Amino acid sequence: MILTGVELVVTEKCNLNCDGCTNLIPHYSDPENKDVNQLFEDLSIFLDAIDYVAVLKIMGGEPFLNRNLSSLINRICSNHIYAREFGKILFITNGTVVPDNKTVDMLKKYRNKIQVYVSDYGNRSNKIEKKLRENSVVFLKYQNSDWINIGNLKNKNRDITTLKTFNLNCSNSKYCSTILDGKLYLCQFQAHGVNLNLFPNDGNFVDLRESYDLREEIKKLMSLEYIQACNYCDIPLGIVSCKRKEVIKDKKTTVANFNEKD
Ligand SMILES: C[S@@+](CC[C@H](N)C(=O)[O-])C[C@H]1O[C@@H](n2cnc3c(N)ncnc32)[C@H](O)[C@@H]1O
Ligand code: SF4
Ligand code: SF4
Repeated sequence: MILTGVELVVTEKCNLNCDGCTNLIPHYSDPENKDVNQLFEDLSIFLDAIDYVAVLKIMGGEPFLNRNLSSLINRICSNHIYAREFGKILFITNGTVVPDNKTVDMLKKYRNKIQVYVSDYGNRSNKIEKKLRENSVVFLKYQNSDWINIGNLKNKNRDITTLKTFNLNCSNSKYCSTILDGKLYLCQFQAHGVNLNLFPNDGNFVDLRESYDLREEIKKLMSLEYIQACNYCDIPLGIVSCKRKEVIKDKKTTVANFNEKD
């Protein structure tokens, strides 16, 4: 079984507070860093069940707020079997948190397998660059084109045909399957929405820690025609509320949209 992309949530913590975050991070009142031993176990179970995943994304919140990532990276990348089971590891960061030295050492050591994607939140996202450059870590500035309006998270009572269309047209269900607390969800919005009880849990996820026939269950999840989370989500309609760059230029709006946490 070959998958295009999977996200591993290493923390729910974030130092920014972006309005309309697709991972719903500002909704967490008591966000936590995930235990790296447990993360490695969950990932091992997952990799054992599949054949290959092209892109493994290390995701948050802000991933570099979890200060224990070096051992996770080392354990994944130094394992010859696992290292063959993924194409690349991408760290997606807001660029405002400089990773600790041990983590930087690992990013450098495995630079043939790891890239850091720095999202663009204006000048504040440059903070990470110096350390990455000095240590020859492979990074690129991630130019998300538009800031998407995810909607008001209310139930839109869409009919099944519409829900199927959402799932079919949404790139998140193809590239952003998400492992959160040992559960594999179809997309990041579903994962965090269910975890936060923002909408009902329709049971359409795979519990990596409990499953008896994981491979079959993952196949079933990946071929679902629709999930109830799409009832609460406006992402695929692509209502572009604002261009990110324009927002960042406008000081007033910047504060309203991407303000830092107190
Ligand atoms: C949820 S963030 C987590 C990683 C990190 N905190 C960051 O912001 O890069 C992952 C990616 O989703 C993007 N993102 C989040 N909400 C978005 C939205 N409403 N529209 C467009 N991109 C969004 C972020 O800019 C980032 O590139
Ligand atoms: S930086 Fe913004 S987009 Fe990234 S996780 Fe934090 S709140 Fe969400
Ligand atoms: S909930 Fe549905 S529409 Fe929203 S990101 Fe996930 S798959 Fe796409």
